Amino acid sequence: MLVNHLYFDISRGISFVDYATIFLLTNIKLFREKPPLRAMNFIAILCTNLILIVQMKCIDSIKSPTWGIFFNIFCIFVGMKYDVIDRLRRERSLTDVELRELLLSADTELIAYLKEQAREVAVGVFGREIKSRGLIEISNYCRNNCLYCGIRAGNADVERYRLSAEEIWECCEQGDLLGFQTFVLQGGEDVRHTTEWVEMVVKEIRRRWPEKAITLSLGERPDEDYQRWFDAGADRYLLRHETANAEHYGRLHPEGMSYENRVRCLQTLKRIGYETGTGMMVGSPYQTVDDLVGDLRFIEQLQPQMIGIGPFVSHRDTPFAECENGSVETTLRLIAILRLMHPEANIPATTSLGTLATDGREQGIMAGANVVMPNLSPVSQRKKYALY
Ligand code: 5AD
Repeated sequence: MLVNHLYFDISRGISFVDYATIFLLTNIKLFREKPPLRAMNFIAILCTNLILIVQMKCIDSIKSPTWGIFFNIFCIFVGMKYDVIDRLRRERSLTDVELRELLLSADTELIAYLKEQAREVAVGVFGREIKSRGLIEISNYCRNNCLYCGIRAGNADVERYRLSAEEIWECCEQGDLLGFQTFVLQGGEDVRHTTEWVEMVVKEIRRRWPEKAITLSLGERPDEDYQRWFDAGADRYLLRHETANAEHYGRLHPEGMSYENRVRCLQTLKRIGYETGTGMMVGSPYQTVDDLVGDLRFIEQLQPQMIGIGPFVSHRDTPFAECENGSVETTLRLIAILRLMHPEANIPATTSLGTLATDGREQGIMAGANVVMPNLSPVSQRKKYALY
């Protein structure tokens, strides 16, 4: 690069137009490059400026090098666009304004760099291996009436099912044969799932497979249930916060459910000692970009061990049937941002990503996710567990 600048006969001096042309030809491409090329370029440009200043001092015929210097400095700032990602990676946080800008940015190079960095961090922490959790959907009965969810109590068109304890253990058996190290028992808030029954199911899984991790995802329960299930052998609990804006939460959930209670449950789970997972739907009705920034802040405060996010997918039997689906791209950006903010967290490439894009889960992995959750539920019941 420098050689190109020196190629001019110095004694003739250079005009701004000469300078800008050569500058564009030699430098602009490199400016847009990522580190370490960018750093090298930065140094090269400083040197070029120095040479210009020397020329200005020594040669009368030089016309207007000052413009060249301004132009140079301007380009340095343009070239610094990737710094925001580097800082996010280094400091694990950004300001609200910067997070907002990343979520809204139309700069495809910048976003590609964000995802690349996130993937690099994930590979650094977990290697190239993707963790696999066996998902068992134990019941689609639910006492709640969340406006977005296909198995809401108010949906009379769902054929309801509930796995027996034996069926659940059979799924675990299958999962064990397939090599899964974690079983995830997920279900609606089924009133028949008493404290004792779940406790008994968990105890038996723990007895039969002492080395497996047991994850529960059974919604909001009294503190006592969480404690007893933990004592019975459950290690992890997934409970998405859905949105960290209490007012928005109110618009997605029926009366009787509250953001405060959701947060209280999450805090209890952490206090008891569960590896706790939370997360939000992306692009749910009424959600704003600021809400998403709020979600990132909430997760930053809670410091969960697992973060599950997925795009909202509208379900025809819900009040949100006519609402637009969430954006796959925004979800991928959030996964990448979350990976850089929480390098060690387990972040799944969720099924809803795969629902809205055929390669959605693969894209999730390439944006920093490190977990997939294949379905271990009995094939005959799977269709009935349609959250979206
Ligand atoms: N679209 C996307 N995600 C949904 N979930 C429930 N309904 C939908 C939907 N329509 C998510 C919620 C819940 C998790 C089990 O599934 O975030 O916490």
